Amino acid sequence: MPTRFPIPPHGGTLVDRVLEDPAAARDLEGEARTLPTITLNLRQRSDVEMIATGAFSPLRGFMTREDYESVLHTMRLADGLPWPLPVTLAIGDELARILDVGDRLALQEPEGAFLGVLDVEDLFRYDKREEAQRVYRTTDPAHPGVAALYEQGDWLVGGPITLARLPHHRDFPRYRLTPRETRRLFEQRGWRRIVGFQTRNPIHRAHEYLHKCVMETFDGLFLHPVIGPTKPGDLPNEVRMRCYEVLIENYYPKDRVVLAAYPAWMRYAGPREAVFHAIVRKNYGCTHFIVGRDHAGVGNYYHTYDAHRIFEEFGEEELGITPLFFDHAFYCRRCGGVASTKTCPHPQEARLEFSGTRVREMLQAGEPLPPELTRPEVAQVLKEWAQEELALETGAGS
Ligand code: ADX
Ligand code: MG
Repeated sequence: MPTRFPIPPHGGTLVDRVLEDPAAARDLEGEARTLPTITLNLRQRSDVEMIATGAFSPLRGFMTREDYESVLHTMRLADGLPWPLPVTLAIGDELARILDVGDRLALQEPEGAFLGVLDVEDLFRYDKREEAQRVYRTTDPAHPGVAALYEQGDWLVGGPITLARLPHHRDFPRYRLTPRETRRLFEQRGWRRIVGFQTRNPIHRAHEYLHKCVMETFDGLFLHPVIGPTKPGDLPNEVRMRCYEVLIENYYPKDRVVLAAYPAWMRYAGPREAVFHAIVRKNYGCTHFIVGRDHAGVGNYYHTYDAHRIFEEFGEEELGITPLFFDHAFYCRRCGGVASTKTCPHPQEARLEFSGTRVREMLQAGEPLPPELTRPEVAQVLKEWAQEELALETGAGS
């Protein structure tokens, strides 16, 4: 069946929760002075931004209990639409005590600037261990997503949000494209079949291999590295983006790729997050989405292809975006290039495995990254960063 063009957002309408009229925005800020206020942390601010720009369409706010429980148990919103991860606003006892359904809660940025309001539709307690088990498939606090869940407040406040403006960011202004902007860009380029790519790890040549495979048959590639909060030990956002810039500069036809920043935070929820990543990239205008080995995984919490299998739980039509599955890719000396278990007949001894973890280990050990693993231009960016890191660490220790 031909893909519909442009692809409809999830649920049919691209949400927009930012007031257009500056006078209305000023009025809202005036009203907010008398309201109870929450200072958002970085993850919460990221969620607010994703909702407000329509990246999380059809969500218009944070989940009420009905949607929350439905998502945990069925990976769907209460109306049946696929949605695998909770998007909730957790608050502590003190704030919960003074809030009631029907109230308005003011939202402010971590630095204190006014952002918008939430209309309180629901306020409820929840079971963190159950959420951990269902979403992350573990209750281990060593899992970074579980750790984030355990440290948040014991109450969830649900309801639609209205923003006076989007959050201010100093970094990556040219890469901060909203779903409306990426959709317009794809249209201007005349692209119909667009493949989205999620990433957070240092780029290695398996990533490039996946990109080049899809570029052979699709109209365009949408590279969308994470710039929202990630776990300690992950590459800093600036370095991740810089690697992509030099890779594109040296190895990609520029009219066939769009690079933009993905402002969501990493949950490391593996399979559930793979489906989530696909749905959100549909909202950005993608028709297809790459899911490789251990997508959005961390440690050994998920099997290598759990994130492929989970897509069997959803119909093609209701998901709207088509996943493109890739097996584990590696460099094969006998093939003389990157290959996968699907294309290479040679034994293990001929293969050089890549993983973000391996790249990080080599950088930490000060080992050079071989060209089979990483393009030299990318290796150079990573090396400079690793040296700065080491210098800082030594500096801090002395
Ligand atoms: S993450 O979001 O999945 O944590 P990462 O940067 O590690 O980001 O991977 C980006 C994408 O490339 C994911 O779809 C992942 O499954 C895929 N991928 C990474 N390394 C490989 C590999 N060696 N073989 C196949 N797919 C890979
Ligand atoms: Mg990975």
